[in-house]
Amino acid sequence: MAKSEIGLDIGSTAVRAAEVVSRSQGPAVVRAGQVPVPPGAVENGEVRQPELVGEAMKELWSRGKFKSKRVSLSVGNQRVVVREVSLPWLPEKELRKSLAFQVQEFIPMSVDEAVLDYDPLGEVEQEGRRLIRILLVAAQKAMINTLIAATDAAKLEPVSIDLTPFALVRAVGQADGSLDAETAGDEAVIDVGAHVTNICVHDRGVTRFVRILPSGGRDITLAVARGLGVDDDVAERLKRGEVVEGGPNPEDVRRVVMQRAGSFIDEIRSSLEFYTAQVPGAKIGRVLVTGGGSKLAGFMELLQERIPVKVDRGRVFDHATSELGLSEEELAEAEPVLAVAVGLAMGRRS
Ligand SMILES: Nc1ncnc2c1ncn2[C@@H]1O[C@H](COP(=O)(O)OP(=O)(O)OP(=O)(O)O)[C@@H](O)[C@H]1O
Ligand SMILES: [Mg+2]
Repeated sequence: MAKSEIGLDIGSTAVRAAEVVSRSQGPAVVRAGQVPVPPGAVENGEVRQPELVGEAMKELWSRGKFKSKRVSLSVGNQRVVVREVSLPWLPEKELRKSLAFQVQEFIPMSVDEAVLDYDPLGEVEQEGRRLIRILLVAAQKAMINTLIAATDAAKLEPVSIDLTPFALVRAVGQADGSLDAETAGDEAVIDVGAHVTNICVHDRGVTRFVRILPSGGRDITLAVARGLGVDDDVAERLKRGEVVEGGPNPEDVRRVVMQRAGSFIDEIRSSLEFYTAQVPGAKIGRVLVTGGGSKLAGFMELLQERIPVKVDRGRVFDHATSELGLSEEELAEAEPVLAVAVGLAMGRRS
């Protein structure tokens, strides 16, 4: 039997897993599922209550019938930073060994409290010195430990911890660079969650920029709740277009939603502009969007209005076939929220 890999995405509204098998014609998603997590158990992309998250994962495994307990995880929150930095050139082995002594000045946390990793980006010469450019990743140890405590509680075995933005690029990014003239340039992949929005700009799979914004669909819900004086759960239903008896009128809801969505989109645009301003010659050719937050009616249109390049939905099932036995509607519903889990499982394809 073909070997399978399982990606597990821990979000603030749900835990989701996808099992991917490598077939001769490409990856296939053979099992997938999600179970809601109680409010507050995961906040801002961080596990706050490992026991509760563990319970949700147990439920997910019992419902989803996943073939293994070995899982690939990811982090995407304010306690992980990604920086492109130049260091004096060293052979790979020595660079890895000495990393902790060289990078303190680049990261906003103590290296003693961080887990460090990097991807080499290439060599450069500067004033006669040989330098190596790397994409440095630093994650706070305590945050990683709480994540692992949740998988421990569910008796799952983490085999890797990646960055959520990297998993996204694997799941929906265009790897071969065959964009047409209209969309020539780098590609930005954006996952709009409830609490966090992960942004990754890449050039044919090579990461150029990562930004994790501490905002998402929940901010729109909160704007409705505050602006119209309703409870958060009612606001959530109103935001999704439900008409609530005795509630505010739909036009008022729409106005608050679109206004808040507009300023959220401006935050996204600023991040993309920051990238293009910072890197000489950089140009974004296309934007791909995933995540539950992108399901908001009118969101994609507003994004397209405010961002001067082509905006599309990221399509996981263009990159991996579905063997989930879902109808077309069910698949379209699941696709935006499965990107991270599928990308994590695809990263460990052997
Ligand atoms: N049909 C819809 N219309 C509007 N918003 C929606 C719809 N469906 C989902 N959302 C919003 O999507 C958000 C949840 O997205 P998603 O499931 O990707 O988040 P998450 O992965 O659980 O959280 P995070 O990644 O932030 O930790 C919520 O804010 C929810 O209100
Ligand atoms: Mg998410």
